[in-house]
Amino acid sequence: MALIAPSLLSCDFLRIGEELKWLDQSEADWIHLDVMDGRFVPNISFGLPVISAVRRATSKPMDVHLMIVEPEKYVEAFREAGADHLTVHVEACPHLHRVIQKIHACGAKAGVALNPHTPVSSLYDVLEDVDIVCMMSVNPGFGGQKFIYRTLEKLRTLVAEIHSRNLNTLVEIDGGVGLQNAEVISGAGADVLVAGNAVFADPDPAGVVRQLRQLSSARFEF
Ligand code: DX5
Ligand code: ZN
Repeated sequence: MALIAPSLLSCDFLRIGEELKWLDQSEADWIHLDVMDGRFVPNISFGLPVISAVRRATSKPMDVHLMIVEPEKYVEAFREAGADHLTVHVEACPHLHRVIQKIHACGAKAGVALNPHTPVSSLYDVLEDVDIVCMMSVNPGFGGQKFIYRTLEKLRTLVAEIHSRNLNTLVEIDGGVGLQNAEVISGAGADVLVAGNAVFADPDPAGVVRQLRQLSSARFEF
């Protein structure tokens, strides 16, 4: 069974309090929060004040995905705002190992995200040090994009590597995940499914979360 992490990027921001109410009571395992700076990615989303407000409205683990340049400058601030997991992009970190240490030093779980074109081998030398690998299955920056199917191949390679080293690293898939592909993605070994548009654009978002969970437990290999 995969964990389900709805991405708040696709919520109705005018009704964010109500969105968090149903989310908190839903079967969602984590809440995924996408921070974008208009530099690492061509879009700007939200930052620290929103993260601290969300923290006060939910007891679910907050999975913060930093799509920003120089994320090392903001690690402590996002942790203080309430992040449980801090994920940085390998492409934004020339000193990735140091950033991971910094995230752990402030008591958060450390995640590393890979863009669709970045090979999984780029993080083999830090794999022992990270808690979560976030594999992007769209080009980061926007919700509601199409899943890039080549990601499944990368996912299998990464999962095999994690197993061969006997690690507990979680693999998260982010982008274009929905009811149509949740089963295939978890069948390929994903531990966490992030879903934005598929959840929030549906009239029964909590129902979609439940269905995603069910689909991800009926694993099959293909
Ligand atoms: C994309 C973000 C994703 C996004 C996923 O840059 O990292 O977390 O919210 O949204 P969907 O599920 O709509 O592709
Ligand atoms: Zn994300």
